[in-house]
Amino acid sequence: MKILLFGKNGQVGWELQRSLAPLGELVAPGRDDPDLCGDLSDLEGLARTVQTVRPDVIVNAAAHTAVDRAESEPELAHTLNALAPGVLAQEAAKLGAWLVHYSTDYVFDGSGSRPWTETDAPAPLSVYGRTKLEGERLIQAACPQHLIFRTSWVYAARGGNFAKTMLRLAQERERLTVINDQFGAPTGAELIADVTAHAIRQCLRQPTDAGLYHLAARGETTWHGYANEVLALARLIDSAIKIKVTEVVPVATSAFLTAARRPLNSRLDTQKLQTVFELTLPNWDHGIERMIREAS
Ligand SMILES: NC(=O)c1ccc[n+]([C@@H]2O[C@H](COP(=O)([O-])OP(=O)(O)OC[C@H]3O[C@@H](n4cnc5c(N)ncnc54)[C@H](OP(=O)(O)O)[C@@H]3O)[C@@H](O)[C@H]2O)c1
Repeated sequence: MKILLFGKNGQVGWELQRSLAPLGELVAPGRDDPDLCGDLSDLEGLARTVQTVRPDVIVNAAAHTAVDRAESEPELAHTLNALAPGVLAQEAAKLGAWLVHYSTDYVFDGSGSRPWTETDAPAPLSVYGRTKLEGERLIQAACPQHLIFRTSWVYAARGGNFAKTMLRLAQERERLTVINDQFGAPTGAELIADVTAHAIRQCLRQPTDAGLYHLAARGETTWHGYANEVLALARLIDSAIKIKVTEVVPVATSAFLTAARRPLNSRLDTQKLQTVFELTLPNWDHGIERMIREAS
């Protein structure tokens, strides 16, 4: 089996290089690959890459993930998050290949407090959310053999994320203010990559399991709760991390002016994924200690 991976250097892409390796031959062009186009902004190049490699499975972990910057570069976000997955879906369908793709809790407007299910109506608040939703829809329209995983609050030892920003700031400042009215589940890139490999294996045997799934760790917290957990673990496990911070102040979303609006309720209901793929997802704090140890 041949797998074509885009976005190999991102948080999820890096872990996919590990988790997909036992499934078959992995071809993972970088953005500057001299032979195969791995740049999502080059739609013709992307199509050519798929036609050249002729994969059985395409996994797209690349995206325009800078949520605030997307507000000022909507065309680029649209190309990377919507048009490029659409092209991959068309090319996958022509080959009879699978397309695996990632989407986001930011497709929802964040109302209420109930975890969102796959059948709830999306209503994105931001360019990022709107372009990711369009990407989902283009895939669903063009390629029946797809897996789309909506995930949330991704962290990894490699790459940039909220937990690593908190660790850095906590070593520089005595006081942090962190949002305490957005609810969701921090989800490890390792978990996402491992579930992806498991789901691909199952879908190849059982194609009717194709579809859209919510994939996030169990439980919920706020960014404030998450920051406190990260700092508590950092203090416990590594005396080399000199935490200066003495106060982590909870604040409302309205205290921060950001270019993009973010949902207050980012809870994702993962029952469908757990049932179809016979999985038990770990609690959100499960992989954080490992991430801190690996990042420090
Ligand atoms: N991060 C989150 O909290 C979060 C939450 C929900 C859903 N998701 C979704 O999960 C997926 C993986 O996210 P992640 O956290 O792993 O993202 P990430 O760490 O930001 O990685 C994104 C990857 O996309 C690549 N990329 C950007 N522009 C590209 C282009 N023009 N051509 C090719 N590659 C390009 C980046 O390459 P460079 O390294 O070269 O910049 C990077 O490797 C994405 O679909 C994202 O929307 C993420």
